[in-house]
Amino acid sequence: MRRILVTAALPYSNGSIHLGHLLEHIQTDIWVRFQKLSGNECYFICAEDTHGTATMIGAEEAGVPPEIWVEELRQQHIADFDAFAIGHDNYYTTHSPENEHFAREIYTKLKDNDAIYTANVEQLYDTEKELFLADRYVRGTCPRCGAEDQPGDNCDNCGATYAATELKNPRSAHTNATPVLRSSTHYFFNLPKFEDFLRSWTESGTVRPEIANKLKEWLDGGMKAWDISRDAPYFGFRIPDTDDKYFYVWLDAPMGYMASFQNWCDRAGINFDDFWNKDSQAEVHHFIGKDIVNFHALFWPAVLHCAGYRTPTSVRVHGMITVNGEKMSKSRGTFINASTFHEVLDPDTLRYYYGARLNASMADIDVSFEDFVSRVNSDLIGKFVNIPSRCANFLQRHFDSILSTKLVLPELYEEFAAKQQLIEDLYEEGETSKVVREVMTLADRANQYIANNPPWELAKTSGREQEVQAVCTMAINLFRTLCVYLKPIVPGLVSRSEQYLNAGELKWNDVNEPLLGHQLAPFKRLMSRIDLKQINKIINASRDTSTGDSDNQQSNSEKIELAEFQKVDLRVAQIENASVVEGADKLLKLELKVGTESRTVFAGIRSAYEPADLIGRFVVVVANLKPRKMRFGTSEGMVLAAGPGDKDIFLLSPDEGAVTGMEVS
Ligand code: 2FM
Ligand code: ZN
Repeated sequence: MRRILVTAALPYSNGSIHLGHLLEHIQTDIWVRFQKLSGNECYFICAEDTHGTATMIGAEEAGVPPEIWVEELRQQHIADFDAFAIGHDNYYTTHSPENEHFAREIYTKLKDNDAIYTANVEQLYDTEKELFLADRYVRGTCPRCGAEDQPGDNCDNCGATYAATELKNPRSAHTNATPVLRSSTHYFFNLPKFEDFLRSWTESGTVRPEIANKLKEWLDGGMKAWDISRDAPYFGFRIPDTDDKYFYVWLDAPMGYMASFQNWCDRAGINFDDFWNKDSQAEVHHFIGKDIVNFHALFWPAVLHCAGYRTPTSVRVHGMITVNGEKMSKSRGTFINASTFHEVLDPDTLRYYYGARLNASMADIDVSFEDFVSRVNSDLIGKFVNIPSRCANFLQRHFDSILSTKLVLPELYEEFAAKQQLIEDLYEEGETSKVVREVMTLADRANQYIANNPPWELAKTSGREQEVQAVCTMAINLFRTLCVYLKPIVPGLVSRSEQYLNAGELKWNDVNEPLLGHQLAPFKRLMSRIDLKQINKIINASRDTSTGDSDNQQSNSEKIELAEFQKVDLRVAQIENASVVEGADKLLKLELKVGTESRTVFAGIRSAYEPADLIGRFVVVVANLKPRKMRFGTSEGMVLAAGPGDKDIFLLSPDEGAVTGMEVS
């Protein structure tokens, strides 16, 4: 029996779990479930990645202490992962006593081994907030293309990368103040010292060849020391023997794997050292996205090596996801949170889809909703679920749901069972798309078998009734084998199938022994077909609620400062006259009374309102919008309305009796 510790990257405590997190956690969970199912001792460990400026600011804006803030997010994240049957054995937090212990202990070992030094660093500083600014909290004009309001590391407009200090007209994203350059002492981990170790570690099968090549490029390019400290104020662990220096979040985050495991060991009676000692025989596998390879395959093994711990057995890297060919987007409604998805669709549908798309490479994965619906309906339901659906009734009606005592076509059963080794190898390598392909090919064979020996015909043919039981027994046993093979991918669906099979939880080796002379439970529908309407519901809900900040860069660029909003002069106006505009199907011309002033505004609300019905109504108007020349005249403001369009456009009409020209507050 192998002893295996598995981790997925720790989600930041700064937003909701979304489709991107789910890709990784589903991938990892499939691998873990496979290991457990085949009898290995395997633990799936994760935690909240809590430290850093983003948490500090998020908590501050929410008006709660960071400890409360991260705990609330941890609970939300646990609920989301549970809904998708992600079976973390422990989902802890990096803000824990165990993690503080490891951070201090490992740091002290690094220091004792001469791998830490200090140096002065000049960095932009916000004098109003009294805070050194991480690159993403500086905005300014791109030094290359001149685009305004660009972040401090690279330009969204031209793609240039630069230091925050190179931005023209830099300002703090927190306060808008112009930052100043200030020097402070930082602590560095002397990474170049471990070049030889890293060269051999990265080439020893710990990562796949394409990653090893990438890492070799980095190593050949010359490594720099790693800055592992941040100045106060910072939410994190203070560096021993300092007053105002904290460990950089990325130093203690991977230690969170150890800390969460330690916490689990203490509760489950496992020996931590068996897994983390230098000469440990156990395996440690990290599943991560390709954006954080350097942290896991350079910094982390070097830190572990220097501190006298074992290094990971493997780092398994997946690609990023896009939705319908584009980056997930809040405005398009494709930034889909886990909770939004599972409120509408069975989480196993996503697990199946990801399973069918994932492999061991780090190629990006595009989630196409049409492909998603088609694979779930045609394959998972049309092929797999279809097998018992076609047989259960006949067994129930004519044989009290009892299976025959022998298989009529044992060689077909054997053919299915013989795939076990191949499927096992594919799971082990992370080639789940190939597992799904194998299983669906077998499902086609099973359906073909049923079609060639149709129970519905046999049941009608006198003298052949017994064959119905034989055919259905074969089909149910083929289905049962496929249940074993798919169990790591769709545990909910297989659990419902196990209830129907009525013989307890399926184990990996159950494929070796068919189920015979056994009474099945009454059959209930295992899964329903899905349709694009459900997807649209998810997209619409994501559009409405996509104000979370899990995509910081994106939400920052969509957000405006209060000061900017305050420039908008919103006033209550009364419609004195309304008329259609010849040649413009969508527009109405409105004559408004704003205070004592009259204004003409063209509004695209014709589909929802008859002009006569509008006269006398109150509306909210943007009163200080620059007049816009249109084909039909000049529009002197904008009327606010909301709704999906067509007949449903609602004017934000205040109570009757409102005083026109009044400010809206
Ligand atoms: O990139 C991220 O989302 C990080 N929170 C992952 C941390 S993984 C580990 F090292 F802690
Ligand atoms: Zn630029």
